[in-house]
Amino acid sequence: MEQDEQGLKRDLFGKNFYWGITTAAFQVEGSCDTDGKGASIWDEFTKKKGAIKDAQHANTACDFYNTYEKDIELIKQLGIPNFRFSISWTRIMPSGTGAVNQQGIDFYNRVIDLCLQNNIEPWVTLYHWDLPHELELKGGWTNRTIVSWFSDYTKVCAQHFGDRVKNWIVMNEPMVFTGAGYFLGIHAPGRKGLKNFLPAIHHAVLCMAEGGRVLRRMVPLAQIGTTFSCAHVEPFSNKPRDVAAAARADALFNRLFIEPVLGLGYPSKTVSILKKISKYQRPGDEGKMRFDFDFIGLQNYTREVVKYSLFTPYLHARLIKAEDRNVPITTMRWEVYPPAIYHILKKFNAYPEIRNIYITENGAAFPDAISENGEIHDKERLEYLQETVGHVLKAKNEGVNVNGYFIWTLTDNFEWAEGYHPRFGIIHVDFETQKRTIKASGKWYSNFLNHR
Ligand code: GAL
Repeated sequence: MEQDEQGLKRDLFGKNFYWGITTAAFQVEGSCDTDGKGASIWDEFTKKKGAIKDAQHANTACDFYNTYEKDIELIKQLGIPNFRFSISWTRIMPSGTGAVNQQGIDFYNRVIDLCLQNNIEPWVTLYHWDLPHELELKGGWTNRTIVSWFSDYTKVCAQHFGDRVKNWIVMNEPMVFTGAGYFLGIHAPGRKGLKNFLPAIHHAVLCMAEGGRVLRRMVPLAQIGTTFSCAHVEPFSNKPRDVAAAARADALFNRLFIEPVLGLGYPSKTVSILKKISKYQRPGDEGKMRFDFDFIGLQNYTREVVKYSLFTPYLHARLIKAEDRNVPITTMRWEVYPPAIYHILKKFNAYPEIRNIYITENGAAFPDAISENGEIHDKERLEYLQETVGHVLKAKNEGVNVNGYFIWTLTDNFEWAEGYHPRFGIIHVDFETQKRTIKASGKWYSNFLNHR
């Protein structure tokens, strides 16, 4: 057995370690306007010419809205004890505020109840990037009123699901949805520039903390967390200006959102442009930005190598593409580098304010070939996952307070601007027929979790 060769055993992580799998509403559900669902910024963005590779959209995606019973059955079959999924804000509140759509509530009740009946613990993410389009028309993340919109949405979720859901994640990767969506314009809603990015950052931080407070009040026994994208950053050389450039990139990728939440403020000493966030700050915000999360979810996929660059505005740092470094890459063109997770665990563990760390996403996209007998031997993904889990164990054995690991993702799905081309699933999806096939990586995870 491969896990024996690796010396990797579930027991080595202890009894209280959470093992799971993650999905996100927009990437899997489909049924984009069914049963009263309102449009999100991603429903609108996918209609824009040139926004998504091959003009693909997520109107059907994995059809999870209709196939959730089969997919939860697969999770059960694989013996995965924790299922992290997100709630679509516009299924619950079609306009973002005001009226609640009972059919949306009913859907998530069915999903939650089915998980619990099957001994699968639900982990709910409140915001995985699908902002109501109507709120975007009012400024979206650039409008400070979003704090009260988000607070109301959180209350509705807590009120309807808090009796059964004990694990909550307020936000998924604020750096990605603000950076790609409000600075680079490559994700929904496609806005660009600092005038959008800086207010979006500040309001996302306020919402994270506000969401945490609402949940604490309304679901007192809940375990409350939030997740951050993080990359292990290395300088291209030991030259002081490359080292300084890497420190700036690190501040932007890894420190920008966690530090204000921990009460450490924005890392504007390292990235001076961030001082301009003060324009959007109001007296008393320092306190409102903080929340004592029960856990921090880290999500890592690769490492970045950074070089000084005069021509990159604000940051003066440039990422050296993995393709130009002659290293193995995934379909996303990200470097295959399992030790990255060890480094980021060490890095975040050094914040004394963090109480508990879970890896809430990790995975890799590779092309999958279906063999004649219908099997999928996704050797590269399997090895990547095994090696990464090994690095999590190494960090844990060295005293890092890491107590959970969730794979991204259950089924191949809609990978945002990249469409359906990158396949991240441990279960293959034929998007023509919606047929699911468990890949070798899925079988490995199942074996690892269940054959102790
Ligand atoms: C994360 C994101 C997921 C998924 C994954 C793979 O940034 O939370 O939704 O797309 O990356 O790219």
